[in-house]
Order: sequence, then structure tokens, then C-alpha cells
Amino acid sequence: MTTQAPQNESSSAKQIKQSEKPAPGSLIMSGMRTTHFMHIGNYHGALKQWLELQKDYVGYYGAMNWHAMTSSYKTPHDVMKFTRLIIAEWLAWGLDPDRNVIFVQSEVPEHVELTMFFQMMTPMSWLERVPTWKDAEEEAKASDTHNLGRFMYPVLQAADIAIYRGTHVPIGQDQIPHLELSRDIVRRFNFLYGGNLPEPKPIFSSTPTLIGTDGRKMSKSYNNAFQLTQEPDEITKTLRAMPTDPARIRRENPGEPLKCAVYGFHKLYSNTEDLAWVETGCRTAGIGCGDCKKKLGDNINAEMMGPREIKRKLLADDEKLDAIIADGCQRARTEAKKQMDQVRSWTGFQGNSDW
Ligand code: TRP
Ligand code: SF4
Repeated sequence: MTTQAPQNESSSAKQIKQSEKPAPGSLIMSGMRTTHFMHIGNYHGALKQWLELQKDYVGYYGAMNWHAMTSSYKTPHDVMKFTRLIIAEWLAWGLDPDRNVIFVQSEVPEHVELTMFFQMMTPMSWLERVPTWKDAEEEAKASDTHNLGRFMYPVLQAADIAIYRGTHVPIGQDQIPHLELSRDIVRRFNFLYGGNLPEPKPIFSSTPTLIGTDGRKMSKSYNNAFQLTQEPDEITKTLRAMPTDPARIRRENPGEPLKCAVYGFHKLYSNTEDLAWVETGCRTAGIGCGDCKKKLGDNINAEMMGPREIKRKLLADDEKLDAIIADGCQRARTEAKKQMDQVRSWTGFQGNSDW
């Protein structure tokens, strides 16, 4: 005899669809692993969307240093350095610490506590199926990251969202399996304990996968990512090293912008006039690759100038940055504690004052 999965636990999560605009009052929750400096992929794939969302919604944005530790556990000091740097970057680009709650994951231990509950009821098979675990096994063994913490990465992520009753999660397409799992875990939790945690819905960014400075997919592991906020001379250096359309061996050889990573960056940073200039100039050999890169550098620099200044000031003023971070952590913790009280009451794990 087969046992039917109960209706309310059945999995509809596999049908995550393109997101609609969240209803007023929705709670946005998202975060970034703090393994590295921020690159422009993180900006176009996540932060840019947070900046849009903050106009209409309250958001909880976490610097996820426990998630960073799942792979960077050998260098915790670096993880903390990037945690601070990434928050400074968010603030510099305009994420408002008054309108949102900006926090550090490890400063809110309730994430870990809720993870304990979640990992009890998450079947191993659910985690074994996650592509970031399954597909990277050999690589992970070679780099000493075939570890329990990384195996349960998505469980911690589910707790990140649920601890604030997040309803919507802005994520890149690569995060879909993690969000599906979050929904499955929350649904199972609610079913088992009579909870009412919301099943989080994704909000996808419209930015397609970015191409890195070497023409391959932009990824920190390929070391081809373009740092979000750079000094002008660093921008020039990065651009100088970028390959162009191989057909342009000489200045007089015409090229094809669509085959060139430099043009991909122009599309992100240049206006229509400059784009037309590149397209025509490249195809007719009217401009050289040096001219093309110079224009791109100027445009990137123009966009980075404001945030670069704010970031510099923030990092130079430890007290101010510390105060902003401490305030966000405290506000996050207050909410997380409330939710943990609920979880304790649903599960009977309330403790007893006589003990
Ligand atoms: N896994 C996410 C990433 O790699 C980061 C993250 C951790 C996250 N916890 C989260 C994103 C909660 C959204 C919600 O980008
Ligand atoms: Fe690339 Fe610009 Fe050179 Fe054309 S002119 S190949 S787009 S760098």
C-alpha cells in the first residue's frame, strides 16, 4: 500500500513562476555571502534590485557570513573583513539603513537556532539533489569544501528567510533551487508543527548572466569579475587586460562588438549615443580598441565616482559604520527573537522557568 503525501505538505514548489509585483506590506528578505569583494555581477544581479524595492517595501538584507564560512572557513578574518566591506558597499550605493534592516547574519544567533529545527525535518535526499552540492562534488573534495556546513547551506538559507517571515526574496536565477528548497522546508515545518511561516516567493532580476573580463561567465572563481567600486587606475588596468574581438588584429581590421566582452560592459555603462559610436566604429574600424576602452573607462568611472567617495568616507569613519551596523543587527535580532518565540511555542520548546 502506498501512503499518499498529505495535501498540505505536497510539493508545489517546483512550479515557481516568474514573479509578480509583491503586494503592499510584503516583506523582502535577501542577502549575500561575504566571501569576497562585491563585483558588478552582485550589483546587477541583486543590489540594484534591492535599491528599487526599498522605494516600496521594507527589506531585511543580511551580510551572510555563516554562508561565507561554508566555503571560506579557513579564513574567518577575511570573511569578517568582507562582511564590513560589503555592507559599506551597499550603503555607498544607496541602500537605506533607516528604511531597511541591514544586518550581519552571525550577530543574530536565532538564524542558527531555527536552522536546528529545520535540519531535523529536512530529508538528506532533498539536499543531495541541490545542484550546487551535487554537481560540484569533485571540485569540493579537492578544495576541502565537501563539508557538512556546505551540505546544509540551503537549510540555513531557509532559516534566514523564515526568521523574519520574509515573503519575497530577490535572487538571481542560479538561486532557484535554494528557494524551492526553502519553500519545501517551510511547508513541511508548518505541516508538522502547525506553524504559519510564509512560503517565500522569488523576485528575479532581469539582468542576464554577466560576461566576465575574459569573455567567460563572470564568476569569482574564474577571477574575471569586475569589482563594483574601483579606483580609476584600477579600472584602466582591468580594461587594458580585457581581450577584444580577435578579428581586430590591427587597428584597420573591422570587428564585431557582439563578439567582444568590452561591448558587453558598454551595454551596462554607456548611453545609446556611445553604444552607436562603438557599434559603427568597431564594424568600420573607425575607432580602435584603445578608444573604445577609454570611453568605457570614463563611463564606468562616472558611475562609480559618487559611491566611491561615500564608501571611502564610511570606511574611514569606523565609529559611524559600526553604529549603523550595530543598529541594524539589533533591529534584526528583535524581530528574529519574536519569531523564535513563536517557533518555541509551536514546538513546545519553551523551557520552564522552574528549571
Ligand atoms: N545563497 C545566496 C547567494 O549565494 C546568499 C543568501 C544567503 C541569501 N541567505 C540568503 C539570499 C537568504 C537570499 C535570502 O547569493
Ligand atoms: Fe571590442 Fe570595442 Fe575593440 Fe570592437 S572596438 S573589438 S567592441 S573593444
